[in-house]
Amino acid sequence: MDSTGTLFMPPGRSTIAGDVDALFNFIMYASLGFFLIVVVTMIYFVIRYRRRGADATTPDLSHNLKLELIWSIVPTILVIIVFFWGFNLFMKMSIVPHDAYEVKVTAQQWFWSFSYPNGNTTVNELTVPAGRPVKLLMSSQDVIHSLFVPDFRIKMDVLPNRYTMTWFEAPETGTHNLFCAEYCGTSHSEMIGLVKVLTSEQFDKWLEEGESSGDGMTPAEYGQVLFKSKACNTCHKVDGVAHTGPALNGIMGISHKFTDGTSIVVDENYIRESVLNPQTKIVEGFQPVMPTFQGILSEKQIDALIAYLKSLEK
Ligand code: CUA
Repeated sequence: MDSTGTLFMPPGRSTIAGDVDALFNFIMYASLGFFLIVVVTMIYFVIRYRRRGADATTPDLSHNLKLELIWSIVPTILVIIVFFWGFNLFMKMSIVPHDAYEVKVTAQQWFWSFSYPNGNTTVNELTVPAGRPVKLLMSSQDVIHSLFVPDFRIKMDVLPNRYTMTWFEAPETGTHNLFCAEYCGTSHSEMIGLVKVLTSEQFDKWLEEGESSGDGMTPAEYGQVLFKSKACNTCHKVDGVAHTGPALNGIMGISHKFTDGTSIVVDENYIRESVLNPQTKIVEGFQPVMPTFQGILSEKQIDALIAYLKSLEK
């Protein structure tokens, strides 16, 4: 990722970025100008008109029409400029071009999943073609999240029970950071991902191949890949330290105690159930916050994850 941003902005990598930056810079430098006018004048007046003795009196001033007109009219013109400039840009960012490529975005605590028109699904990684508008149709499974890609200058809330949308067009290939920009609970800060912009040929090839199917890997190796690519590692660590969820190394064959007082010896069926119906059994000391991975993981992938967990030492 190159880093030719400015002091105030990351590099602009979408067709809209230049317009956003221009308006931002206008507002910032205008504000800076007025800040200087106010502060410099203030300091000058404090010195020039300071009280010079016990019998110094304040002159009797009522008003100054010229001055009052200037400080009313000039700011009014400026805010009118900012309004029309901003409204124009807002409309440009809100109206999705007709030929946009549509990706369905689902946010949940605490990861992003992206579904493509051909059925591909990725987690925490949005892959898009360069030079083509991309529409993101977004909804949340739980609380309010916000999709934020600083390099594209787009940020849009993602809500439960309704769709929101945003769009962008990235002219060049590259990789960009994606963040959740709305506090959504314990692991909000880890609800991050990448946007990968490919050439349209690379993108078509990527669509066709889909995600890695684990060919040429052992089930445990494939499971390790999935543990990261499906974002299990956001909440579960494998170094023995509990995070949002329990640590998952060396859990096979040990006894887990649940919040309802029952307990079970961890086996394949328990892990499978925990992935597909995470709310059924909650390990003591943890919150019932895990989302279901039903429809996100295939049977083969669940097998691979179980093989991976079995391979981990305590
Ligand atoms: Cu999702 Cu913050």
